[in-house]
Amino acid sequence: MVDYEVTVYTGDRVQATTLNSVHIKLVGTDGESDRTWLNSMVIFRGSVSTYTVSCPNSLGQLVLIELDKRPLILLPDDAWFADKVEIKSPEDDFYTFPVYCWISDRETHRYREGKALRIFDESNPLGQYARQQELSQRSADYDWDFYAPGVPYTIKADGPSTLPDEVQFSFTKTTEFAFTAATGLLELKLKGLVDNQENWKNLDDINDVFRNKDTPLSDYVQEHWKEDWLFAYQFLNGVHPTLIQRCKTLPKNFPVTDDMVFIPDGSNLSNELKQGNIYLCDYKNLDGMPANTIQGMQQYLTAPLVLLHKRPDDKLMPIAIQLKQTPAEDNPIFFPTDFPYDWLIAKIFVRSADFSEHQINAHLLRTHLLAEVFAVSLLRNFSMVHPLYKLLIPHTQYTLQINELARKQLIGPTGVFTQFTASGGEALTMILERLMSSITYRSLCIPDDIADRDMQDVPNFYYRDDGLQLWSIMFKFVQGVIQYYYKSDDEVHDDSELQIWIGDIFEHGFLSEPQTGIPKCFTTVPELTKFVTMVMFTSSCQHAAINSGQYDYGGWMPNTPATLQRAPPTKKDTTSAATMRETLPPKNVTAQGMATVWLLSRQSSDFVPLGHYLDEYFTEETPLKLQRDFKAELDMLSIAINNRNINLEVPYTYLDPKKIENSVAI
Ligand code: FE2
Repeated sequence: MVDYEVTVYTGDRVQATTLNSVHIKLVGTDGESDRTWLNSMVIFRGSVSTYTVSCPNSLGQLVLIELDKRPLILLPDDAWFADKVEIKSPEDDFYTFPVYCWISDRETHRYREGKALRIFDESNPLGQYARQQELSQRSADYDWDFYAPGVPYTIKADGPSTLPDEVQFSFTKTTEFAFTAATGLLELKLKGLVDNQENWKNLDDINDVFRNKDTPLSDYVQEHWKEDWLFAYQFLNGVHPTLIQRCKTLPKNFPVTDDMVFIPDGSNLSNELKQGNIYLCDYKNLDGMPANTIQGMQQYLTAPLVLLHKRPDDKLMPIAIQLKQTPAEDNPIFFPTDFPYDWLIAKIFVRSADFSEHQINAHLLRTHLLAEVFAVSLLRNFSMVHPLYKLLIPHTQYTLQINELARKQLIGPTGVFTQFTASGGEALTMILERLMSSITYRSLCIPDDIADRDMQDVPNFYYRDDGLQLWSIMFKFVQGVIQYYYKSDDEVHDDSELQIWIGDIFEHGFLSEPQTGIPKCFTTVPELTKFVTMVMFTSSCQHAAINSGQYDYGGWMPNTPATLQRAPPTKKDTTSAATMRETLPPKNVTAQGMATVWLLSRQSSDFVPLGHYLDEYFTEETPLKLQRDFKAELDMLSIAINNRNINLEVPYTYLDPKKIENSVAI
């Protein structure tokens, strides 16, 4: 007889303990062990337990293990979370089998040895068979679902609870999420705000909606929201830094002339356009979209154009706003020199349009829905032993579940977004479809996006500064891993799992549209490296930049109204303090919006920061070292960002690596 020393690591997470009987079978190139009972009574969470599995002869090279679990008589099935299994063979060879999964059923689950293998590295028939079986199960477990015409496909599921265990929220995250949502709503109910459809008579009363939930920045925004510089600053460093672009020639439908705008220091608009000091925000995607009806009242959604000027002191300031796309007498161009309420209401309409464009385009489509496409394609098409599965799976954590929840509780028929925002309901899928027709690969890669928007040298653009550094650090890490596993372009070409993965993304994420620039197959190592960097960046950094400041900038509703209930002014000198207040959403709509952005800006206690790989899917030294180097570089960047922020009146923290979550999880 020969003995194998089997060490089982159980995850240190809530409810990971099992009272069920756990069995293991070792499978090697020269045979397999009996299915062997491991525990006597209980395997506790966080425990490390060693057992012996005896066999008549050596099993040769270990290829995989099989784990299953059964309840003891009179005890129920429970769920067990295993981290990994380490095995020392009689020949003193060590093997590690990453698991990092919940096992809650009575099925037999196979786990492969940790060395990453592409499909053509599988020389052992047992490995080939196990891989084939795994992939057919994965494609059944993770299927595509049609969501709406012209919109990326989603995971097929009948709600969050029907998703496979391995992609569901942890117990901690589930309870915290439900508790946070419930406490927000309870507070509103206690204050009588949930059913109160009155308009605000005094804007200061908005303070009472969530008095104890303010952040330093939401307080600051409340104090300064009317100021032009903060209005402009948000296009660079607020929650939506991806719309603004340099403007060398004015759009034909925005007829601002030199004599209309005041430019200090004796310059004029034409000059400043030539000098590259003029910037544009154009909400044309919202043009013609039907605004929602809320509580029986027609709402208003405009598609503004905003012109900004970079002054010699490097401050960006708004200089003109047109609220609708087609120039007309009843579509005046507003200027900072207008009566204060005319100018303020124009800015409020822009901020409200920005809410819709930010939430639907930058947030929902370009992070949540695309991260889901990347996750579903990964889970469907790669074996767990594939290097790209090991590289990218940490960046998919909780994405499918948060999106299922969003489809139910935010954008479903009774969702908050559907009920209480100008672009909810019918407009949402229309806007998504329009946005999809113009989405490009370049716009998802921050170096290309910054270049295409000609935003390389605008000062004080911290989203760009931090984002480009993050991209570069991430690219180096991804390149290291990919070059370790792919020594030539031929190997990329020959990896059928990889080619099916990108083909599925092209078809179901980008609807087979070649003009997106998304590759439908990979032919070279550099092509693969860039795409994988984009996937990782979108699922972590980009989402953090777009998501984390929602309460900072939306916690004070007048700065980001989710809807407006009076039509935009068609003439100047028609807006007063009273009409401005009547334009803003009523109390219950305000409260629902604030509760939602508060919930979505909260950090969960099992938040995993960027570059922290708690689950060790890789077991080889090279990728492990690359992960350590990646984390070390991110730590350095975090220090630099914090040092920079000390001297800023409004610190930009959303791309501090310590505050970026590894995946789209909220
Ligand atoms: Fe989000």
